[in-house]
Amino acid sequence: MSIDIKNIHKRFGEFTALNDVSFSVNSGELATLLGPSGCGKTTLLRIIAGLETSDTGRIYFDGTDVTDTPVQQRGIGFVFQNYALFRHKTVAQNIAFGLELLPKHQRPTGGEIDKRVAQLLDLIQLPHTKDRYPHELSGGQRQRVALARAIATNPKLLLLDEPFGALDAKVRKELRTSLRQIQKDIGITSIMVTHDQEEAVAVSDTIVIMNHGVVEQLGKPDELFARPNSEFVVDFLGL
Ligand SMILES: Nc1ncnc2c1ncn2[C@@H]1O[C@H](COP(=O)(O)OP(=O)(O)OP(=O)(O)O)[C@@H](O)[C@H]1O
Ligand SMILES: [Mg+2]
Repeated sequence: MSIDIKNIHKRFGEFTALNDVSFSVNSGELATLLGPSGCGKTTLLRIIAGLETSDTGRIYFDGTDVTDTPVQQRGIGFVFQNYALFRHKTVAQNIAFGLELLPKHQRPTGGEIDKRVAQLLDLIQLPHTKDRYPHELSGGQRQRVALARAIATNPKLLLLDEPFGALDAKVRKELRTSLRQIQKDIGITSIMVTHDQEEAVAVSDTIVIMNHGVVEQLGKPDELFARPNSEFVVDFLGL
């Protein structure tokens, strides 16, 4: 599914959080929103999700205007830094959560759910953790489970807000590599927020560099390195 974000404006009172933000993500590609704290990344992701409304601007999924479509009908999977797993559910129950919530005519049978959970556990390379509880996992393992839970229902779009933010550098690197692998394997269009330029370069098809609510520059990582168009981009990419 392709995503088009057109002329999004968002104010909180007098404060302009997003000022005429536009960009597109091709089907099956991963875009990152990269920028300093407070530049509007989470706000924009929440607007794309339908968790927040924009003041003006439109959002299109595969050319269809979804600006007024409620979050539940947008077909999105989420992984958030603080979107913790359910503590009293096992890994398998966490992953199955979204499947159990599907409307009756779409809901898989118990056997089908078990099969799907096993398949996802293989995908995140944690088959042996099925019956564990979140506190019995490492931070990195928990975020893998969160990813499996997010993609269990085959959403058309995956949104990730600093998914590795709480992890140490080594685990972060491992996880971004496996996220990218899984994202490519299943071909899911994805938008990830990060303030880590190295992470953005390592995983992205497109990087959208934001500053104070505007898009400073966007492009493929090598294009940004070859032709940064402002001092801010030069600084932010550490050139
Ligand atoms: N509900 C709100 N009410 C008022 N101001 C808000 C609200 N949500 C966000 N803001 C402000 O909008 C700006 C952008 O916030 P946002 O959370 O999108 O930043 P961010 O780029 O995700 O930052 P970080 O990297 O720290 O997560 C900030 O200045 C924030 O204080
Ligand atoms: Mg944020």
